[in-house]
Amino acid sequence: MSLELISKIHQLKTEKNAAIIAHYYQSPEIQDLADFVGDSLAMAKYGKDVDADCLVICGVKFMAETAKILSPEKTVLLPNPDAGCPMADMVDAKSLSMHKKRHPNHYIVSYVNTSVDVKALTDICVTSSNALHIIRQLDQKEILFLPDKNLGHYINTQLPNQQMHLWPGFCRTHDRLKPEDVKSMKVLYPGAEVLVHPECDPSVIDLADFVGSTAGIIHRASASSAQSFIICTEEGVLHRLKQNEPEKAFHLASSKLLCQNMKKTKLEDVYRSLLNNSHETIIDETTRLAAYDALDQMLALS
Ligand code: 13P
Ligand code: SF4
Repeated sequence: MSLELISKIHQLKTEKNAAIIAHYYQSPEIQDLADFVGDSLAMAKYGKDVDADCLVICGVKFMAETAKILSPEKTVLLPNPDAGCPMADMVDAKSLSMHKKRHPNHYIVSYVNTSVDVKALTDICVTSSNALHIIRQLDQKEILFLPDKNLGHYINTQLPNQQMHLWPGFCRTHDRLKPEDVKSMKVLYPGAEVLVHPECDPSVIDLADFVGSTAGIIHRASASSAQSFIICTEEGVLHRLKQNEPEKAFHLASSKLLCQNMKKTKLEDVYRSLLNNSHETIIDETTRLAAYDALDQMLALS
C-alpha cells in the first residue's frame, strides 16, 4: 500500500512540478520521500532556490509560512494543517506590538519559529544555525530575543556583552529533557559525546560537549572521532544520523524527545495535499513584505 502511495505521490509531484521539503524531525518515511531534508535554515533556502512551481512543506506551520514569504510566486502546501509549533504560539503580534510601544528602543530579533504576523514586526530573524553568528554582528543594540528563552540564554552566555531581553517562550519537547536524564545516559554510555540542541534548558546545555542546530548536530557526529553519542534533540534526527554514520552508536537522551506536531504529517496527507492543492498557505501582501524584510536581513548576514 505504502509503495503504491509513494508511486502516486511521485507521479503527482512530476505533474505539478512540485518539490517535497522535510525537516529532520519528520518520520523516516517522510524523510525518505522528500526531495530535500534539512534544518529550518536549509529548508528556507532550498525552497527559495529550487526550480519548482509548488512546495510541499513537511514540517510545521511556520515553516510553510517562511517558504511562502520567500517564494510568493510558488504554491506552498502544508499537508497537515494541524501541524503547528507550540513555541511559535507563545508570542503573538498583539503582545509584541504592546512590548514595542513600551520599549521603542528594543531591536527585535525573532527566532524563525514564529508566525508571519510576528515576523512582520521583527527587525531580523535568526535560526538555531545562524543565531550566534548574526547576533554577534548586532553591536550596541538593546535586543529583545523571542520567543525561545533557552536559545536566547545560550546565545547570551556566548555573547555576554550583548544586552539581551528574553521572551519567556520555550519548546515543550526540548524543555522536557532534564539534566538527570542526561546524567543517567552518561553513566550508561561512558565516553559518549553529548550533542545538545540550544532549545534545551540551560542545565542540560551545561552538560553538552557540543551545542548546535539539528544540522550542526548531524555535522558534528560525522566530524567527531567519537564512536558513541548521546543525542539531546527530537528523535527524528536519528534517522539521518544512522544513515550518515552506520558504524557509530546514537543514544537518544530520553524517549520524551518527541514532537507530536512534527509527527502529524503522514504519507496520506502528502498525497491528498498534492491531489487537492491542500492546504495552501496564503499571506496578505503587506504582511508578507514586512516579514520578508526580517528574513532577508537574516539571509544577508548569515
Ligand atoms: P532547527 O531545525 O533550526 O535546528 O530547529 C529545530 C526546531 O525545533 C524546529 O522546529
Ligand atoms: Fe516547535 Fe519544538 Fe516541535 Fe520544533 S520541536 S516544532 S520548536 S515544538
